[in-house]
Amino acid sequence: MHRSYGGPKGPPYPCPPTATGGRKPVKELFGKLADGTEIYRWSLENGGTRLKVLSYGGIVQSLEIPDSRGRYANVSLGFDTIEDYVASSPYFGALIGRYGNRIDQGRFTLDGKAYQADVNDGANGLHGGAEGFDKRVWDIEPFTEGPDVGLYLHHTSVDGEMGFPGTLKTKVTYTLTGQGDWRIDYEATTDKATVVNLTNHVYWNLAGESSGSVYDHELEIAASRYTPVGKGLIPTGELAPVAGTPFDFRVKKTVGEDLREAHQQLLYAQGFDHNWVLDKGITAKPEHIATLRDPASGRTLTVSTTEPGLQFYSGNFVDGTLVGSGGSIYRQGDALCLETQHFPDSPNQPEFPPTTLRPGETYRSTTLHSFSY
Ligand code: BGC
Repeated sequence: MHRSYGGPKGPPYPCPPTATGGRKPVKELFGKLADGTEIYRWSLENGGTRLKVLSYGGIVQSLEIPDSRGRYANVSLGFDTIEDYVASSPYFGALIGRYGNRIDQGRFTLDGKAYQADVNDGANGLHGGAEGFDKRVWDIEPFTEGPDVGLYLHHTSVDGEMGFPGTLKTKVTYTLTGQGDWRIDYEATTDKATVVNLTNHVYWNLAGESSGSVYDHELEIAASRYTPVGKGLIPTGELAPVAGTPFDFRVKKTVGEDLREAHQQLLYAQGFDHNWVLDKGITAKPEHIATLRDPASGRTLTVSTTEPGLQFYSGNFVDGTLVGSGGSIYRQGDALCLETQHFPDSPNQPEFPPTTLRPGETYRSTTLHSFSY
């Protein structure tokens, strides 16, 4: 990964990559839920990246990286208090499960049996229902291994939780590598056939949260097709070419360039909120699929994944009603999400890569976020 360590542009880079592991994870009390459950915040640092994670929802409360002159900013939207996360978070920084994105009316059939999962987004199920993984308290265990530091996050979701079958044991590993990359490894097993689609919901603003919109960020997505949606943002089932549409990010362009084009798909979602069909498909190892860059600060995020899809959401429903950790109001387009995933509504779309997990199998998914500046 290319990095500029200050160089002629600025002072020496303050925190060079480590060969032996960065700062050991440190735990502190962050707050309490209404029932008295203590919520902890873990802080870790490695290779120049600083990460703060909550035991509530596995939430990335803050992710700080430097710019090309070594000036740090928190590039992830979030809140300062647990009360704010509980009351009104649109999944800021959270782990998403059991099923990332939408399921049509929350219904699906598996091995001939019909299931009704929780409906929490108009007529549909979104991100695992009203009390998804983003609202669960995770058991967290820190680790230091060679050049890496990180956290193991565990959660057991009981059979029938939010309408999904099977006891789902989930382990998520957040690793900060010696290069300052943030890697997420997801694993899950079940005792009954079920559906699973896990992701993370960081809202990125590489200029720093509370700095305004991300419309000037440059974005590139290695996808020739996307999955168009109907009114409720459920995919129609078609894999449509991006060529000649605002959805073509194969060559980098700014987020804002085509965002206001009068395209029916953009009207449905008030902007981008779609699944891109990654050209590489499902892979055993994470492969590079997207690059996001803030030209002003030089901060660049590259995303690699084993997953076949990417939900690029341009923060359309962030509506100026929330005050973020930087003390200012978050408005539409103040951040964007790049959620690696299987496609939305796959349980009802026989042509999409399947999301069924059976007893004896292990669900695995890996996404790597690399930073340069
Ligand atoms: C969905 C959006 C939703 C957002 C936050 C995204 O993954 O695609 O439609 O508004 O999450 O809830």
